Amino acid sequence: MQARKLLVTAAAGKTGVHTVRNLIEAGHEVRALVRKEDERSAALRELGAEIFVGDLLDHDDAIRATDGMSGAYLCYPVSPGFIQATAYFADAARRAKLDIVVNMSQISAREDAKSHAARDHWIAERVLDWSGVPTAHIRPTFFSEWLVFPWVRDGIVKEGKIALPYGEGSHAPISADDQARVIAAILAQPADHAGQTYTLVGPVELDQKQIAGVVGKVLGRDVKYTPTSIEAYRDHLHKYKLPEFMIQHFEEVAIDYQNGVFAGTNDHVEKITGQAAQTLEAFVEANRAAFAA
Ligand SMILES: NC(=O)c1ccc[n+]([C@@H]2O[C@H](COP(=O)([O-])OP(=O)(O)OC[C@H]3O[C@@H](n4cnc5c(N)ncnc54)[C@H](OP(=O)(O)O)[C@@H]3O)[C@@H](O)[C@H]2O)c1
Repeated sequence: MQARKLLVTAAAGKTGVHTVRNLIEAGHEVRALVRKEDERSAALRELGAEIFVGDLLDHDDAIRATDGMSGAYLCYPVSPGFIQATAYFADAARRAKLDIVVNMSQISAREDAKSHAARDHWIAERVLDWSGVPTAHIRPTFFSEWLVFPWVRDGIVKEGKIALPYGEGSHAPISADDQARVIAAILAQPADHAGQTYTLVGPVELDQKQIAGVVGKVLGRDVKYTPTSIEAYRDHLHKYKLPEFMIQHFEEVAIDYQNGVFAGTNDHVEKITGQAAQTLEAFVEANRAAFAA
């Protein structure tokens, strides 16, 4: 395997951290783009990454971050500005002649998505396609990490319930680490993946009742799914002081979820990485400490 120089954006985020680690373990040189120096960037430096402090909403930063790189992972949070950041990044990637950009999108990215973030993902995919930069889009379903977000975790820990407006919908949760293995594999062997769009899902599709059952079984306590209304969900999310853009996204994807947009399984993770994706049981077991009272 030839060592490559690779940029990882959102390097302090859920998929970014694991992508940096996977790439370094495979012998690649990694430049990790973070927004600021802190204990997370120190840990990435400790792993062997070059730290680049920058902002994806700054065109000059995008140009400097990609300079001298062969490929990059582009990831942006659920926040306004992704189309602008993607346009800047596509221009920077063209200048740097990257042979691959792995673009974090989502399963709900559609031209008629009601979520502003999901619609932005769809447009951002097109911007990269139009740019001519070799790109692989990844479209994950809900991450397994969703269970440890405070607005879900607190219900599990304090009340033994998963209270979400997800109706009878289902999905196959996928961990950030499994996605990172896919991202790292694509960055290492771009020719096999440029031009592809991969829907990324875990190994087992479960509805929320079954997810609550798995969480309860692993944690050894009673956990139930209690479906809520979109209005109650909005009130709940406001208590966690989430930005309006994110709340709008969470409401709309909840409706998408009810309508089956997040459902389905496939074997992309195993085919691309040679290793099957983690089960939800294994994820909860590995994150047991996060569910401590
Ligand atoms: N969670 C899910 O279930 C799910 C499902 C499908 C798709 N997705 C997609 O996954 C993506 C998020 O990935 P993730 O969870 O790995 O990331 P994440 O944990 O949300 O982290 C995002 C990182 O980006 C950094 N960041 C924020 N604004 C930035 C800017 N302007 N310039 C440079 N960096 C910036 C943040 O820095 P700070 O930490 O310093 O703020 C953070 O470290 C989103 O696009 C979302 O749509 C998520």
